[in-house]
Amino acid sequence: MFVWKKEFELGIPSIDEQHKELLRIGNKISELVNDVAYDENNKDEAYGIINELKEYTKYHFRTEEDLFLKYKYTGIVEHIKEHRSFVDFLDKFDYENTVNSRDLLLELLNKVVEWVFHHIITTDFLYKDFLIKMGQK
Ligand SMILES: [Fe+2]
Repeated sequence: MFVWKKEFELGIPSIDEQHKELLRIGNKISELVNDVAYDENNKDEAYGIINELKEYTKYHFRTEEDLFLKYKYTGIVEHIKEHRSFVDFLDKFDYENTVNSRDLLLELLNKVVEWVFHHIITTDFLYKDFLIKMGQK
């Protein structure tokens, strides 16, 4: 179970809500994987939630990038580069194999959540003051 912390908050409610949603999806996978009965029968569900996490991550990145364009954020190139490399990782990942194993699923989940939250407190925090100054809520 991943817990939302105050230090993840940017103070931009529209973005904070999306970050929380990512955590909610992550927790759905966490619950499923930590279910003692996780087996073959849960594979489709696991695949579905992973896909949801993947799609929502892309949607969230687009939201941020649209704001960067709208307000002409100067850190746009570097930020998008980070998003792209992560999307690339998500797109190329071997999901078929991963849903077969609880350990691999947990490993993937931890990696995704770790990446996303590291990205928030480092790279997202770089645009925080700028977007707030521009009036983004
Ligand atoms: Fe970002």
